[in-house]
Amino acid sequence: MTTSQRTVIPDSIRTNGATPNPWWSNAVVYQIYPRSFQDTNGDGLGDLKGITSRLDYLADLGVDVLWLSPVYKSPQDDNGYDISDYQDIDPLFGTLDDMDELLAEAHKRGLKIVMDLVVNHTSDEHAWFEASKNKDDEHADWYWWRPARPGTTAGEPGAEPGAEPNQWGSYFGGSAWEYCPERGEYYLHQFSKKQPDLNWENPAVRRAVYDMMNWWLDRGVDGFRMDVITLISKRTDLSGKLPGEYGSELDDLPVGEEGYSNPNPFCADGPRQDEFLAEMRREVFEGREGFLTVGEAPGVTAQRNEYITDPANGELDMLFLFEHVDFDCEGVKWKPLPLDLPKLKSIMAGYQAAVKNAGWASLFTGNHDQPRVVSRWGDDSSEESRVRSAKALGLMLHMHRGTPYIYQGEELGMTDAHFTRLDQYRDLESLNAYRQRVEEAKVQSPESMLAGIAARGRDNSRTPMQWDGSVYAGFTAPDAAKEPWISVNPNHAAINAAGEFDDPDSVYAFYKQLIALRHDMPVVAAGDWHLLDADDAHVYAFTRTLGDEKLLVVVNMSGRTVDLPRETAELAAAGITESNVVISTYDAPHAVASLANRELDPWEAAVIQL
Ligand code: NOJ
Repeated sequence: MTTSQRTVIPDSIRTNGATPNPWWSNAVVYQIYPRSFQDTNGDGLGDLKGITSRLDYLADLGVDVLWLSPVYKSPQDDNGYDISDYQDIDPLFGTLDDMDELLAEAHKRGLKIVMDLVVNHTSDEHAWFEASKNKDDEHADWYWWRPARPGTTAGEPGAEPGAEPNQWGSYFGGSAWEYCPERGEYYLHQFSKKQPDLNWENPAVRRAVYDMMNWWLDRGVDGFRMDVITLISKRTDLSGKLPGEYGSELDDLPVGEEGYSNPNPFCADGPRQDEFLAEMRREVFEGREGFLTVGEAPGVTAQRNEYITDPANGELDMLFLFEHVDFDCEGVKWKPLPLDLPKLKSIMAGYQAAVKNAGWASLFTGNHDQPRVVSRWGDDSSEESRVRSAKALGLMLHMHRGTPYIYQGEELGMTDAHFTRLDQYRDLESLNAYRQRVEEAKVQSPESMLAGIAARGRDNSRTPMQWDGSVYAGFTAPDAAKEPWISVNPNHAAINAAGEFDDPDSVYAFYKQLIALRHDMPVVAAGDWHLLDADDAHVYAFTRTLGDEKLLVVVNMSGRTVDLPRETAELAAAGITESNVVISTYDAPHAVASLANRELDPWEAAVIQL
């Protein structure tokens, strides 16, 4: 069921506080990483025509919205998150005509398309940045340019490090400042040096961004997923100096083990965040209907999520928060820790509580920056545990209140890449981090770092979509001129869409059911959420309530048989029969027997109508 046929949640049921309820209140979004989705021209990279050719699959799955990771013109330093022309398609992916065709074909099937909007930074090959290198150009102030520290000689051998304006490190390793000889100054880049940060303080920058967004909406796109949109407002002192800059009234933080300080506290959710987002809403979205906005929000708290997504404040529809995917490590993501379930529950409970009265939550465990959830928190070591844990984790997420996001292949239970050598990776984040942590700062051993990248590296989710069992998994033709840009996971012979499509017990079939439940049952989309047994280390249980309707959701988040904890057992005590079982990872008789015995089998999960 797609957007056009889906039931509408009546306005008597509150969703995010708006009246009428937004069209997306019970929608499900599917993220496509175009370079890894479907190649049609044999160059080893996915393309827009490939996405169009798979729309029937997505319509069958039942999702409502497709979010495309960037397909704009780009040098591809960060796989398209470095854009050199916002109003063109990169030839790797196709043409503007291909994009128009994709929009038209998607809309025909009732599917909406949300594009990635990357405007915290551009590529260093964008015309705006080229022009900005000239201090006399009207673009001179479009980026964060700063002189070298007094007393140092920027750019001359031996002068660095130390000449940079402050000690901030980049998320992709090394300093967040790069010297530009043409201009004789440094520019700020929170990500790679090919991703200079735009200066949102400059109204001309904002105007140009809004004009570009309007151009895409007029062309037919249905909204935007906004890349690191909560990093656009930077904290400065009264004279406009950044923390730690020469003469600044603000200090930057002490440097960490890699020799740099963390810019996030000064760049995330900065002083003009609300003003910029409200201005964008007015300038781009006012007077339009049927769109969706979701902001990627590193560093934003659940409380601030409430404010930003409260329709009364006119900013964004929803945000991606990250605490729930960032906490299971020892300080850095390259030192992973096993899942601490009570901690996960408390973070999710915080998210849910914050939007109880107004605003909205997005729900995700996977995306193109995260490892595959079935390998991370589930168990992909055997076929049985993979299928069961993929279903249990899907049920857990989809039964929360908010909008679920499915990352391509998650609906098949696709696993991590399980690469063992550095040369198998393509992602600049992993490769830079290895160089910096192992070779330069020497703060992690090669073995430990390789294990860290295998567990948390972004390439885990970027291996080609597994369509079938053929040599390149149907991602590209077996006789394609070029091999896929990154290796296909060898497990595609067993895990693929062709094998799962008609199998009623597949992860795919299970995700279809989860999506349909959200469409059909307002209690799933909008019911109140209440956590049970917060401290239990294995069972994640909660209720959903809407008027007289009440659902009990129980998930054994482990591969062992566990006892039902007290609060859950009490709710499940009386008269549960097969007709109460809405969905379960085993079968209905099994769920009834388990609840009667007050225990759950490995990865057993169920939704029970009370
Ligand atoms: C967040 C995106 O999700 C990630 O893939 C990208 O590398 C950074 N932003 C920089 O654009």
